[in-house]
Amino acid sequence: IKKIGVMTSGGDSPGMNAAIRAVVRTCSYHEIECIGIYHGYQGMISGDFIDLNARSVKGIINKGGTFLKSARSKEFMTKEGRQKAYNNLKAANIDALVTIGGDGTFTGAIVFNKEFGFPVIGIPGTIDNDIAGTSHTLGYDTALNTVVDAIDKIRDTASSHDRLFFIEVMGRDAGHIALNAGVGAGAEEILIPEENLGLERLLESLNRSKQSGKASSIVIVAEGDKSGKNVFELKDYVEKNMPEYDVRVSVLGHLQRGGSPSCFDRVLASRMGVKAVETLLDGKSNYMVGLLNDQITLTPLEQAIKGQSKIDKELIRVSDIMSV
Ligand code: F6P
Repeated sequence: IKKIGVMTSGGDSPGMNAAIRAVVRTCSYHEIECIGIYHGYQGMISGDFIDLNARSVKGIINKGGTFLKSARSKEFMTKEGRQKAYNNLKAANIDALVTIGGDGTFTGAIVFNKEFGFPVIGIPGTIDNDIAGTSHTLGYDTALNTVVDAIDKIRDTASSHDRLFFIEVMGRDAGHIALNAGVGAGAEEILIPEENLGLERLLESLNRSKQSGKASSIVIVAEGDKSGKNVFELKDYVEKNMPEYDVRVSVLGHLQRGGSPSCFDRVLASRMGVKAVETLLDGKSNYMVGLLNDQITLTPLEQAIKGQSKIDKELIRVSDIMSV
């Protein structure tokens, strides 16, 4: 392997720049070339490439987002799109790929590898933490800190006005952000996609809170929560059933995806970038680099996307006990 391509794809996450930097510098260290691919798979199809060297990635370890840009490419889902991408990689003499992203990114990488035998290694980059084979995806730790900070601020105003707040956090299919940030910020209830506790239980819990003397409350709702109601409908439902509550809604949205990566994410990105390049140089392909028990590990890409949700049941119990 003489030349490696690196790209970011899907929803961006803090730490992606740090991971690109690590890939580029590991290539320099091993005296091989590195090419950046703009806009994920879409840039592979249009041949939007840039030569990168150790100095081109200076000053980015602390930057949120991804300077290579990110996209979700519909064209890459077609055979013709992937053929164009392959032709461009070959024309640029790129021998292997490091793809940084989530399950959609890895699904694309698996198909591409099957069709053309092209060597690929994945680095998990998503704030959702919904990938198996790693305890942490890049950006998750930063997003948790961002969300906890936002909830703390909302709590200030909630408590000044004796209000109940429903706060929606990201997580289309996974409740990791909701559960961990909820426990970290002391939320009364946490609604996640992995568990449907039912609306009755929500009312019971809010009733208990009121009776135990709590004047204000915070309920965290993951985007993909299965209660059947979105945050605004939950507000209406509670207002109807418990008119004594003054309810407000706050949707945190995309601010959760931005910001300077935490030290944890920067270190993780650096370790993962080194491992990704060295795995390719060892002649291996089709793996995702992950973090398990603080060791950098390899998991087959197929397992990474099909793995069981790792929602922590013990933490659900802790959250229940804390809201007594
Ligand atoms: O993949 C991460 C994620 O943040 C999800 O939690 C969220 O549903 C989604 O991205 C929104 O992404 P976008 O607005 O970029 O389509």
